Amino acid sequence: MPKKSDAAREVETLRAAIRHHEHQYYVLDSPEISDAEYDVLMRGLQRLEELHPELQAPDSPTMRVGGKAREGFIKAAHISPMLSLDNALNPVELQEFDRRTRELLGAEELEYVAELKMDGLSMSARYENCTFVQAVTRGDGRVGEDVTENARTIRSLPLGLKTKDVADGVHAFEVRGEAVMNRAAFEKLNLSRDEQGLSRFANPRNAAAGSLRVLEPSVTALRRLDFYPYSLMVEGRPAFPTHWASLDWLQAHGFKVNRNRKLCRTVEELLAFCAVWEAQREHLPYEIDGVVVKVNRIAQQERLGYTAKAPRWAIAFKYAARQAETQVENIEVQVGRTGALTPVAKLVPVEVSGVMVARATLHNEDEIARLGLQIGDIVIVERSGDVIPKVVRVKEQGSYRRPFHMPKACPVCGGKVVREEGESASRCLNASCPARLKESILHFASRGVMNIDGLGDAIVDQLVDRNFVTNIAALYELDMLRLMLLDRMGEKSAVKLLRNIEKSRALPLPRVIYGLGIRFVGERTSMFLAERFGSMEKIMQAAEAELQEADEVGPKIAQSIVLFFKEVRNRELVERLKLAGLQFEYAIQKREAGPLQGLTFVLTGSLSALTREEAKARIESAGGKVIGSVSRKTHYVVAGDDAGSKLDKARTLGVPVIDEQKLLAMIGNP
Ligand code: IVH
Repeated sequence: MPKKSDAAREVETLRAAIRHHEHQYYVLDSPEISDAEYDVLMRGLQRLEELHPELQAPDSPTMRVGGKAREGFIKAAHISPMLSLDNALNPVELQEFDRRTRELLGAEELEYVAELKMDGLSMSARYENCTFVQAVTRGDGRVGEDVTENARTIRSLPLGLKTKDVADGVHAFEVRGEAVMNRAAFEKLNLSRDEQGLSRFANPRNAAAGSLRVLEPSVTALRRLDFYPYSLMVEGRPAFPTHWASLDWLQAHGFKVNRNRKLCRTVEELLAFCAVWEAQREHLPYEIDGVVVKVNRIAQQERLGYTAKAPRWAIAFKYAARQAETQVENIEVQVGRTGALTPVAKLVPVEVSGVMVARATLHNEDEIARLGLQIGDIVIVERSGDVIPKVVRVKEQGSYRRPFHMPKACPVCGGKVVREEGESASRCLNASCPARLKESILHFASRGVMNIDGLGDAIVDQLVDRNFVTNIAALYELDMLRLMLLDRMGEKSAVKLLRNIEKSRALPLPRVIYGLGIRFVGERTSMFLAERFGSMEKIMQAAEAELQEADEVGPKIAQSIVLFFKEVRNRELVERLKLAGLQFEYAIQKREAGPLQGLTFVLTGSLSALTREEAKARIESAGGKVIGSVSRKTHYVVAGDDAGSKLDKARTLGVPVIDEQKLLAMIGNP
């Protein structure tokens, strides 16, 4: 037998490690390494597979990244039809199902499996030689669409199993289950769609369906779907004598089987299970719409058989929808801490599953357009999770209805409202708007900005609520008299706070720019702007094209800066900051170019020739930077004796490790 090459061995090691970590993360929800560390492993594997195409394999974790887009979906027939289930809409109907089942089976012992009914779309995944080969949507139950490439990107769907057979040489099987999007991924997807100016998905099920059925697998890959299996079949028949055994087998072989399941012997136990999960429903990370009850023994399932469209051995106990009908009285606008204006529907109060609902968020103008909603319409509202209720759809147009228009002026401060191109949110541009003020003060005072210690949430709330501070410049006009009027403010802390405010006047221009809270202008951009223009005055006067001459400033940032300084209130604010004595000029310094220019170092363990502080000073005077923790971006780890976890991390991430002597040699003057 030919000896395996080093590359082949390394590929195998990497694949095993990645599979292990994917299982920990996506199936067990208990990651052992950071995302960055996972990325390093993945990238290492990709590189090796590129260098050695002969080592490529269909079950390699790299196959999840999403291949080429297609023209359309190919139809694929199911080996045995994917049936739907009959529903029980209340306890009596479930009791009826139990009675019927017992009658058909005679006096036999009977056991049920109760599982959660996941709200997604059903999909079948076929494996050959214990390797994933094809995924098909349910479609009409007989024929679905081949979504193999998209399904490959679902991290909780194993691409290959460790074992080579299900049982006694059987290695081809089919797993059926539900593809779902969890609530967190759904919220994130809709937020990013808002940002891109795209319409929102109405619920996680639509989002899951839309994501599994897009033509570009790379899009599915970004959407983070999950696959929860609920059946295992070999040649069109259940694989084990009981349904429970199939679920156990799937779980043991890396599938994400829902653990919230139970063996029940009586209908009372079933009803208790249904009630428990109905109460818990909102706290689950995914949406469910009921409980599925199945007869556990396959022999009994086969005797019970099927009706034309559903098995007689299973039933779906459906939860009532948490929806209600009401009328939209008005649409009001709320201003958030970032200045975003959110339209909120004021409703004729209505009870939705035990809670009175009088308001529902409408997110933004696009959402209102998507719903086709006007003030006066009759709508369906829904409560889901802990989130604020939302309007699902317009049920009926009101006989007296009028359209909603986003105000041109901020309802809180009267400042100008702008909706930038490609954005779904409208924003108030006035940085001194009370709604935005608290957040902007906290940002201004934070450690990396003006570093005003002692200006926390509780103090800022009082300062704004009592009108002592109406914009960030007013901080510099605070005095003992007013500070002593605040709750929980002693003489000592007031003196300290005033001293810290005083000290902040000396901080350099980049911090002042950063402190203004201009959208998209972070710490780095502020530095580049100060370096390019040398004074606040010049930045304020610069046109978009000039601003783009600064490093890393593109059209989007330049436009945001111009927009900010166009607003009269913001110009007044800057003027007051200038009068307060903040630094508005910046001596453009050439950063020292040394032998370590642009390199970052992490120090670990005890060094012998230098103390930590000395080593840090030497690195910095040679143009380098010393940071506290190791990441992929770290250039070198300098390890002394007894180096610990940072050294391990450097090795995992492939960051070069050097000793003190090497460092001194690099600096060039030992
Ligand atoms: S068993 C023949 N189990 O509900 C049995 N279905 O209304 C087929 N579903 O099409 C389904 N969670 O998409 C089963 N634990 C679960 C389920 C489940 C969700 C979906 C599935 C099915 C529909 C039936």
